[in-house]
Amino acid sequence: MKEKITDILQKAQKEIPECKGLQNLENLRIKFLGKKSELKSLLSQIGQLPSEERPIIGQLLNKTKNQIANIISQKKIELKKIEQEKAADRKKIDITLPCRPLKPGAKHPLFQIWEKIEDIFAKLGFEIVEGPEIETEYYNFDALNTPEEHPARNLQDTFYLKNGMLLRTETSPVQIRVMEKHKPPIRIISPGRCYRNDKVDASHSPVFHQVESLVVDKGVTFSDLKGTLDAFVKMMFGENIRSRFRPHYFPFTEPSAEIDILCVNCKGKGCKLCKNSGWLEMGGAGMVDPAVFKNVNYDSEKYTGFAFGLGIDRIAMLKYGISDMRILFRNDLRILEQFV
Ligand code: PHE
Repeated sequence: MKEKITDILQKAQKEIPECKGLQNLENLRIKFLGKKSELKSLLSQIGQLPSEERPIIGQLLNKTKNQIANIISQKKIELKKIEQEKAADRKKIDITLPCRPLKPGAKHPLFQIWEKIEDIFAKLGFEIVEGPEIETEYYNFDALNTPEEHPARNLQDTFYLKNGMLLRTETSPVQIRVMEKHKPPIRIISPGRCYRNDKVDASHSPVFHQVESLVVDKGVTFSDLKGTLDAFVKMMFGENIRSRFRPHYFPFTEPSAEIDILCVNCKGKGCKLCKNSGWLEMGGAGMVDPAVFKNVNYDSEKYTGFAFGLGIDRIAMLKYGISDMRILFRNDLRILEQFV
């Protein structure tokens, strides 16, 4: 029996120090000290020994059990320390690792054009102002001299909100807001989002973008309007792109005109883009109607002014050769990545 006990001790002294990991150590504890261990079964056989041997073997068994338990607890301390160190290592950041390649983002093509428009007008001495997208009927229609029965006021064209306000259908209400706050001279542009109850197709979207301009001072004339627009068109599309006016009607300008530019594709020869007309529509313009001046307490005997509104989406499409407006609003990465 003594030999068996020494044998167990020797095995424990060899196997336990070699063990790796706390789970393996627990398995060894069960093997050497557990209910089904050799030591336990020897202990239960003590009764069968001659009575003089019982205390000696009993003591030896106890001593061995304690020795093994000691080796195990020593090893446990050691293994725990190793695991803690490993965990600490895992938390450390290796600053020598190369980073993942970054994909640079890009400004949306529409906003690239938006900024270019702002740059051009800033160079021409214009101030950039913003106005609210949620407007009252007063600013969007009444103050702009739009008659009560004008079709634009129709529910079919305008998004009305439950509280009686509406989503502005054009950037022109900013004209009123600026003139209410400031006395002439005024020279501003105001780019922004507008909303109309339009069905989505290649050239319509319920959300679109305009840039409004307003210039008021003593002696501002129609030729100032024409000259300003022509300068802008040339700075945006190139020296050879002329602009022309066609007579039109807007409630807030008199006289009014629609602005065309020479087709950027065929330069006037006629093609699919300009429907063989040689010209492309860009927006509306005119001299500020005295009725509008009256609404903001400007003296129309003393001051004159011009205003125009251009489609930013339209300019972006022409600049980038985009034939379907929906592309501008779809956020398709295959398209947007081309603008990095
Ligand atoms: N607001 C007009 C439109 O949306 C354009 C315009 C602006 C016309 C300023 C004249 C003066 O069609």
